[in-house]
Parts: sequence; C-alpha cells; structure tokens
Amino acid sequence: MAKKKVMSVLLSAGLVLSATGVYAQGPGGAPNSNAASAFDNKIIKKISADNMYNTIAYLSKVPRQAGTEGEVRGVQYIKGQFEKYGYETEVQPFPIYTVIRNNVSGLLEIGGQDLKPYVFSGSYSGEVTAEVVNVGKAIAGTVPDNVKGKIALIERGDNTFVEKVQNVFDKGAVGVIMYNNTGTSNEFGQASYGQNIPAVSITRSQGLSLVEQVKNGQVTAHINVTGSGLEEKTSYNVIAKMKPNKNKDTGQVVMIGAHHDSVPNGPGANDDASGVSAVLELARVMANMPIDTELRFVTFGSEELGLLGSYHYAGTLSNEEADRIVAHFQMDMIGSKDAGGDHEANGLIMYTIDGKKNLVTDLASAAGTRTALGEVVPYGQLGRSDHQPFHELGIPAALFIHSPLEPWYHKPTDTIEHIDKQKLQETAEIIGASVYQIARPDTPALEHSRVAPQPVDYDFENRPPGA
Ligand code: BES
Ligand code: ZN
Repeated sequence: MAKKKVMSVLLSAGLVLSATGVYAQGPGGAPNSNAASAFDNKIIKKISADNMYNTIAYLSKVPRQAGTEGEVRGVQYIKGQFEKYGYETEVQPFPIYTVIRNNVSGLLEIGGQDLKPYVFSGSYSGEVTAEVVNVGKAIAGTVPDNVKGKIALIERGDNTFVEKVQNVFDKGAVGVIMYNNTGTSNEFGQASYGQNIPAVSITRSQGLSLVEQVKNGQVTAHINVTGSGLEEKTSYNVIAKMKPNKNKDTGQVVMIGAHHDSVPNGPGANDDASGVSAVLELARVMANMPIDTELRFVTFGSEELGLLGSYHYAGTLSNEEADRIVAHFQMDMIGSKDAGGDHEANGLIMYTIDGKKNLVTDLASAAGTRTALGEVVPYGQLGRSDHQPFHELGIPAALFIHSPLEPWYHKPTDTIEHIDKQKLQETAEIIGASVYQIARPDTPALEHSRVAPQPVDYDFENRPPGA
C-alpha cells in the first residue's frame, strides 16, 4: 500500500516535469541517433499502409453515426481485430440521448387563442392544462413553491435552458413556457433527458404581455406537444490493453486513441476511420513487443456528439489510474490526400488544448525527423477532439491531424478515394516510434528521463483548420 502511494507521487511529479518540457537527459546528453533508429525500426518496418487502407475501406462502407447499427458494425470489427492480435478487449457501453422531431407540433392556448409556440428541442411530448405562474428566470433557489402542479412562465437568459427547466421541474411544475429576452424570435430552447414536461417558447412581446396578464389575475394555459422527445440509445468505446511483463513494469500507461463514430450521412473515411486504422495497425505491430509500460488502444464513440465517449471513459478512471497514464496520442483525420496544403511536414500538425508543448509533442516532433516524414512536426492550439478530456485530467495529450482541412470534411464525400497511404504511413510511424520510446524496456531506469527524447526545435503555428 505504502509503496503504491510513493509511486503515484513520483508519477505526478513526472507529469509536471514532462508537461513543462523539462527532461533529465540520458548519459552523455546527445541522443545516439543510430540506436534510436534501430529501436524505431522494430516498429516502423512492420507498419503497413495497405492494412490501414483496408481498414478504412471496410469501416467507411457505411456511416457510423453514434447509436446506430453502423456504429455497432464498426465496433464489432474493431473488437475482433484487437482480439485477433491478442489484446484484452473491453467494449464499454454508455447512454446517449438523441432528439426526436417527428412531425412535431406545439399548441399553446391562452384565452382561446393559440400563440403558435416553438417546441423545445428534446421537449417531452404531452398535454397539460394548468394555471400559469411567473417564475422570472428560474434561477436555482428563487423558484417559488407555488409552481407545483402549474405551468412555469420563464424568461430566457442568465442560465441555461436545461437548468431552467430542471429548476421548475424539481419544484413540481407540469409545463414550461419560456419567452425570449430579446428580439422577435420564438425559436430557442432545449430540454434534457428525464425532464418529462412539455416545454415551449414564445416571443418577447408575447411573454411580456403574459407577464402582465398573470399579474392582473389568474391565467390558465393549455399546452399540447406531440412528436417530440429524447430517445436513449447506446454508444460504445472499445478499449484494448497490453500489460507489460510482470518482471519489468513501470506501472505507467500510454494511450493511443481515435474515434470510430462518423457524422450521420458521412462515411467518415478520413474522419475518423483513418485514425482508427492507425490505432489498429499500431496495436497489431506492437502486440508481441517486449514492453515495460502498459499500452492502451482506444476507439471512442460519440466524439461527433461532443466528445461523449472520451469524456465517459475519462470519467470512469480513478485518480490512481489517471495518475498512471503518462501520455495520450489522439489521431483524428490523418489520411486525406487533400488536407495540409503546401505546409511543411506534409500538413501534419499536433494540437494541444493549451497550445503548449508537452511530452507527446516533444516525442512526436522528434520522431518525425527519424521516420518516413523526415521532418519535425509543428504544433498549434486546438481542441475539437478526444485529447480534450485527457488534458483536463492533467495528462499530456495531443491531436494529430492534417491542416488545413480537406473540402470533404463532414460530407458524404469523405470517402476512401480521398485517402493517401503515404500520409497514413507517416503519421502511424511517428506515433509508433514515440509510443515505443516510452514503452520499450531497455531505456534508462531513471523516472521519466527514460522517455526523454532530445527535444528538437519545432515551431508553434497559428494555423486555423478551415474547411
Ligand atoms: N475531426 C474533427 C475535429 C477537427 C475538425 C479537428 C477540424 C480539427 C479541425 C471532429 O471529429 C469534429 O468534427 N469535432 C467537432 C467538435 C466536437 C466537440 C463535436 C467539431 O470540430 O465540430
Ligand atoms: Zn473527427
């Protein structure tokens, strides 16, 4: 027990060091580039762009929208491949909620007149007739008890739609009428799963007039919402682990990730079957390598819905487990022929959430010079993918992508025809060489110095991805 604690303190200290880019250096300071290449070769010589290409071809045959059969088909394939390579593989389900809008209709009748309201996205379908109670902006702690059994009249602004609905729902309200805080539109509002009361929105002038009516006497409203709701579906993460030999185990974990879901009508060949293909190929190549660090290959679901899979996964980690993860490499859109323009490094760039270098970018930029790319890789600042939750846990993380983006991004034309094997090869080699530099057992034993590359000079680029 005591031993474990010391270990985790050491690891946290190591993370701080690596995050600031300060490394102890191996004996002699300068790296032995021949030796480095020899180690790289154990991995990169085995990487096959054809394998990656074939994976993309299979995965991109149908869209892999989260919560659909297409995602399940992809998940089964990925799981099967990991298992074939000998990994301990887990499919981790998590719930997602999708908005239903099937011939949605909303009625709001007051004094025999329909105010023709807008129905909240995700509003519960239902019909209620009740007295209207003005609850202001429905800020937590200010909602009156007498809204119980009544319809809450709420002003937009200051807190979120979902918070407002929850605050009156918790007090027993049976419906929501929200009026705008500005302008003339009534098209706004969003409800969340479990808020089982109809919620509609009206314009500011309609709302202010209603506020007056309620002030002057009892007002009864009739709300009827049909064709709207939220449906619970299941999305999945696929997690494959390779534990080091028990005799030589640093207790550390390196993660290599991508997302397997696509946008609804996109085959997602580049976004992100390309990243998945490299995750699988690196898992294959590393399967039987001696290592002293656990390798964890993950493909996330529901990235396109707001990084839901990676947040779910990160949320399942205990503090002790998060402490053990020393790096997260995220590959998202790594194979487009048409991305990257004329930029150096074939358009490859590493994005961190805070725009700072870290262990991942230091390792990978240096690996760029030793592998097929033959150049340092620049870095920049951007979120928009699954490196975000890992960064938030304090884990050095970066997104590998070609920028500026291809024109097919999130379109039905994101197909295999636009995939470039050379780009796949270059990126997979860089991640493979970097990961192996951490995980190989024959590096110096000093805490964290053993993963230290001689960081090369690589530049920050303010390169907006565009599309
Ligand atoms: N692959 C993209 C992320 C991306 C796009 C990174 C362009 C860099 C440049 C990803 O799948 C995506 O589309 N993400 C969403 C954000 C997410 C939080 C829903 C996006 O960028 O709109
Ligand atoms: Zn993506």
